[in-house]
Amino acid sequence: MNLDASSVAFAAYLVAALLFILSLAGLSKHETARNGVAYGIAGMAIALVATLWLAIDVADVADTGALPVVLLLVAVLIGAAIGLWRARVVEMTGMPELIALLHSFVGLAAVLVGWNGYLSHPELGLESLKDIHNAEVFIGVFIGGVTFTGSIVANLKLSARMKSAPLMLPGKNAINLGALGAFVVLTIWFVATPNLALLIAVTVVSLALGWHLVASIGGGDMPVVVSMLNSYSGWAAAASGFLLSNNLLIVTGALVGSSGAYLSFIMCQAMNRSFISVIAGGFGIEAPAGEAKEYGEHREIQAAETAELLAGASSVVITPGYGMAVAQAQYPVAALTAALRERGVDVRFAIHPVAGRLPGHMNVLLAEAKVPYDIVLEMDEINDELGDVDVVLVIGANDTVNPAALEEPGSPIAGMPVLEVWKARDVVVFKRSMAVGYAGVQNPLFFRDNTQMLFGDAKERVNDIIAALPVRV
Ligand code: TAP
Repeated sequence: MNLDASSVAFAAYLVAALLFILSLAGLSKHETARNGVAYGIAGMAIALVATLWLAIDVADVADTGALPVVLLLVAVLIGAAIGLWRARVVEMTGMPELIALLHSFVGLAAVLVGWNGYLSHPELGLESLKDIHNAEVFIGVFIGGVTFTGSIVANLKLSARMKSAPLMLPGKNAINLGALGAFVVLTIWFVATPNLALLIAVTVVSLALGWHLVASIGGGDMPVVVSMLNSYSGWAAAASGFLLSNNLLIVTGALVGSSGAYLSFIMCQAMNRSFISVIAGGFGIEAPAGEAKEYGEHREIQAAETAELLAGASSVVITPGYGMAVAQAQYPVAALTAALRERGVDVRFAIHPVAGRLPGHMNVLLAEAKVPYDIVLEMDEINDELGDVDVVLVIGANDTVNPAALEEPGSPIAGMPVLEVWKARDVVVFKRSMAVGYAGVQNPLFFRDNTQMLFGDAKERVNDIIAALPVRV
């Protein structure tokens, strides 16, 4: 290989890696998020150009003609076209399942790179390097396989094409631990005597483990699963980086792997879940009793009465959830907020860390509708003050305001911190029916004495309220 091309590519990879780090730092705050995205795009563009340049140089030196470069370009163009199309058409609410699908591609790529690493028999010279290479093949295939099927199951669960309830096979913990044990034994065996049968065996074990791990995790814990698979996909990419001797892939994979693991950890803390038990496929979590409880009758309210209630309130808190995203109600919600603030009502938003279907979902929607950042508060900032609030509007949220999480130890969401909206004087819940939320559990909030249900599409109902707000004198 021409030394110039490889050293220029090396320098370009270093710049790209730095840009990725700046990107992650930028994405951690609202104010710098746009810059973060720009850094990420710039890093990726530099990485792609450098890789193309390297490929041209390698083809040149190996005298293979233009075919490898043409194949590379065709693959990049097809991938870019599909990616652009999906990104343009995907709804915000469909983002997590798209992300899960993208993670499955990273996993599949790692499996293919691993297989290629075995089949192409590179000339490594030293015997000890061969052992390391074989271990890399095995580890890459294993992490990739787990990521591939795990992400497919996550995609199926998030898109409701598979039941969100956890799969509770007898001895599920033993199955997971057995698969891990089998991986360790097979790796040692493969390093000692590499052969195709062992590679096939580890591929099968990893695909089955990925499927089982994610299938065993229940609906309420799915947010953590998506970020956990994000982490796995990073480690799968890093493993491929070792096999391909590509430093950028190693650095980027490690960045994605560690940031995904940290995000999973913070989300587990936010949901009061054990990090280890979630990443180990619900290790130690027993099937909830799931008995149907009777909570009594619910009361209904109409938009006009809600408008009166709001006009007479001095403090209002809005807790949005997935339903606000489905209804695309953020614009009328922002208009209602502005109208109430003009009347001197103190309006604030209370955001649960897993409201919606991906971290930060509600913050993005509210920012899109130009709701001022300073009235959008996190759960911990506002929970203690909800007792002094006149009216709470629960707009398309359900699990995140469910008192059963605190009061019913047998509930599947027991222990998850929730917005304690029932402490307010009046609560109005916007939803279309009495159906359960994502975790599939009934919500006793709907039957409390100070709660009234406002049925219908959230966007239409909020518009009705704006129209019915009494004229100011
Ligand atoms: P959910 O518990 O899913 O409740 C959403 C509510 O919105 C439902 O009760 C639904 O009731 C209502 N709704 C749907 N469409 C509506 C519309 N057009 N107009 C009015 N209401 C509508 O939402 P949440 O409180 O935001 O909780 C989030 C849940 O998703 C948690 O269980 C969380 O663990 C899970 N989850 C979160 C993430 C992340 S990272 N945030 C990722 C995956 C899953 P109707 O059908 O009766 O209208």
